[in-house]
Amino acid sequence: MQWGSTALAFYEVGAAALAASVATLRKRLELSQAKYPSLAGHARIARRLARFVPFYEYSPERFFCSDGAPRDIAERRRAAFEELSQIYRARFAETIRCTAAAAQTLSDLQFTGTYRVPFQYRSLVRAHLPSASFVASSHGVTLTDLDGNASYDLTGSYGVNLLGNDFYKGTIERGAARVRELGPVLGSYHPVVAENAQMLRAISGLDEVSFHMSGTEAVMQAVRLARYHTRRSHVVCFSGAYHGWWSDVQPGIGNPLAARQTYMLRELSDSTLWILRKRRNIACVLINPLQAMHPNVAPPSDSALIDSGRNARFDRARYADWLKQLRAVCTERGIVLIFDEVFVGFRLAKGGAQEYFGVRADLVTYGKTLGGGLPVGVVCGRHELMKRFSDERPADICLARGTFNSHPYVMAAMNEFLHALEAPQIDALYRDLDNVWNARADALNALLAAADLPVRVANMSSIWTVCYTEPSRYNWMLQYYLRTEGLMLSWIGTGRVIFSLDYSDADFRAIADRFVAAASAMKRDGWWWRDAAATNRSIRRAVLKEIIAHRVSKLRGAV
Ligand SMILES: Cc1ncc(COP(=O)(O)O)c(C=O)c1O
Repeated sequence: MQWGSTALAFYEVGAAALAASVATLRKRLELSQAKYPSLAGHARIARRLARFVPFYEYSPERFFCSDGAPRDIAERRRAAFEELSQIYRARFAETIRCTAAAAQTLSDLQFTGTYRVPFQYRSLVRAHLPSASFVASSHGVTLTDLDGNASYDLTGSYGVNLLGNDFYKGTIERGAARVRELGPVLGSYHPVVAENAQMLRAISGLDEVSFHMSGTEAVMQAVRLARYHTRRSHVVCFSGAYHGWWSDVQPGIGNPLAARQTYMLRELSDSTLWILRKRRNIACVLINPLQAMHPNVAPPSDSALIDSGRNARFDRARYADWLKQLRAVCTERGIVLIFDEVFVGFRLAKGGAQEYFGVRADLVTYGKTLGGGLPVGVVCGRHELMKRFSDERPADICLARGTFNSHPYVMAAMNEFLHALEAPQIDALYRDLDNVWNARADALNALLAAADLPVRVANMSSIWTVCYTEPSRYNWMLQYYLRTEGLMLSWIGTGRVIFSLDYSDADFRAIADRFVAAASAMKRDGWWWRDAAATNRSIRRAVLKEIIAHRVSKLRGAV
């Protein structure tokens, strides 16, 4: 009898343990189904694998025929590379000199100078086509470097430059004049702060506003508030989406630590909606509407351009539908829906992505252009979510500070920006925005097709990315041809082309002609020669084989 009841107890404990492990396994499986099947969708695996990628590079001979190009093509490429290098050194002499000197002390320059092209090619590129990262002035839609060369500005100042550099010179100057009497006094507010809050309330359709110093900080605060009010731990963000460089929203490569309270899930997926319905620990869902251009894929950068697999296609209706589904699940489950509009806010519509996609968020973050040219981050939200303390529990607070928050000069430039949005011509600009930029993208694509060039652009309004239609290992060279034609990109190269809205049709025609000239020169120089059997897949496989071979030989060398 005694033995029988002990055995029964064991059996019951065993059965309970088994049931618990099956339940845990099922939860794990559900979670993994809601992840995008790529490294971008699996942050931990990506971070682990990244440690095993060894540095190796192509010899000066292989550099020109890493795709198996025949000798004559490799020679043509080499001659063109040398010619381009001479043009660079002559035309950008002072700018290059200054960049190289500053890079010794500016860590950021060392990083951006290194990550411009796939690492296998970088030493030769850096030696022959060195970075020229300084500019002396801006006028209209052009930037002038230290050698006096004017180039069209396609950098968009990381998205800040929405209405043109001259516009922001004005907002900063007028703003500074308005707060000059107060100066840089912090802690107390200049009256423009209150007016900004009112104006942002109207624009966002939300009750309250808090000011921060950068987009990253605005996102930190929005997530912190969501955790505070829901008493839940986890944040959901989507594969590939950038939300600044705070650890919790950057679970993949680039963050030395694993983000343990972040679920990085698949966008536009029923499995994700399932997880949101099932899990009880989710405080918020963070959306970066820019991902609508390339859902689940990391922001495009030429340093990762080893083949022509980069793709983008913006489908407004599909993305709006997805946001509506997310909205419904978040409402049903008490999850805070955060729109991170730091990039797209004011670029798609005056009322931002909420207006553009017709979906309301609980919290919205803004930044970049909203500072009127000065650094800023903003959170707008419903009253009950923005509250930072509890009436019943005085020690229960959600702290958010920041010495420079509500800086009078920033607030005054912001105020100028917000007032400028009220002008009738800005209304007209917004009304026709998508038509104008879609037509421009179509026009450039028609020119590229007519010239039989393997390049196309894809766009979400004034935010563009360059895609490549034939498998190639050398697409990253286009950034150097574009610079030679007077088109300036940011360090991520052809991945992001960001236009300010002051580009006239004539400016745009000039850009399009230069773009076609650059791509034609690149084609003439043999960079797009192609082995008929090559595919993007075969290129990726070949690179993977190289990586494994180098890893193995390094391990052997270490033994
Ligand atoms: C969507 C989004 N969120 C947050 C940030 C971070 O903003 P900041 O660079 O001002 O910290 C960025 C920056 O590019 C962004 O695009």
